[in-house]
Amino acid sequence: MLMDLQAVVDDIASALSERRGEGKVADYIPQLAKVDPKQFAITITTVDGQVFSAGDAETPFSIQSISKVFMLTLALGQAGETVWKRVGREPSGTAFNSIVQLEQEHGIPRNPFINAGAIVICDIVLGSYKPKEAIGEYVRFMRYLADDDMLTIDRAVAMSETATGSRNTALANFMRSFGNLHHDVAHVLGVYFHQCALAMTTRQLSRAGLFLAAQGADPISGYSVVSASRARRINALMLTCGHYDGSGDFAFHVGLPGKSGVGGGILAVAPGKASIAVWSPGLNKVGNSALGTLALEMLTNQTGWSVFGA
Ligand code: DON
Repeated sequence: MLMDLQAVVDDIASALSERRGEGKVADYIPQLAKVDPKQFAITITTVDGQVFSAGDAETPFSIQSISKVFMLTLALGQAGETVWKRVGREPSGTAFNSIVQLEQEHGIPRNPFINAGAIVICDIVLGSYKPKEAIGEYVRFMRYLADDDMLTIDRAVAMSETATGSRNTALANFMRSFGNLHHDVAHVLGVYFHQCALAMTTRQLSRAGLFLAAQGADPISGYSVVSASRARRINALMLTCGHYDGSGDFAFHVGLPGKSGVGGGILAVAPGKASIAVWSPGLNKVGNSALGTLALEMLTNQTGWSVFGA
């Protein structure tokens, strides 16, 4: 690769160093409110296996909604296209935890990345596994993708969200009343809260997302994770729905398929080039990492990697 990507990530980290701490750390999950807001990390893993990091790239953080990309991948592997009978593929234009469209749309969530959609995806996975097995299967998948057996779920975060997750409980019960949740609400949410509570570093996360940048195959091991067309479609959903009501703005400024989480992480995919993970806990008004988004905008400006052109 001709570009000096280490210089790119170093530049970004130093340009943002004065601004560390900007945004507001998520506090509706009490355990997340304890995270030091001044942290920042970025890792690029290229499709030819090179890794470039700057900042706190070895500090694990709660991946939260970024997990929805990986659980969707598992659900598609189990249920195939039937997934789309129970969840849509349109941007919602509403907040990640909104309930407003569900009544008019008969309990079918707009897409798999809003909370309602991700809860249905867990219900689909529970069609093949018991709750503890589903969590085990997810962790096994994530360790495989990240090529790291040390990945673990942060139980304190999972418990913290279980104790305060009334909104998600409401979404699940509401969808169950429409017949779009087939399993016990507590079991479905148990899987969902544990999936969100996985702790990863930007280095591990960028490695785990690499198959999406490489037509569905892990370019380092050579193994196929999903077909090329499925990878392309997951990327399309990330681009259109990955940042909730901030998805248009993210496409405008960054121009890459991306998925955010309230832990302050973002996974972005530059198809054919690299998988990028950024992390900074302070969130913008729509719940996406403030500095993480800025970092990715700087990255696509410097590399010309936006899917919309240089
Ligand atoms: O269900 C929730 O509210 C969290 N476990 C995940 C939300 C989230 O990460 C939204 N992303 N920006």
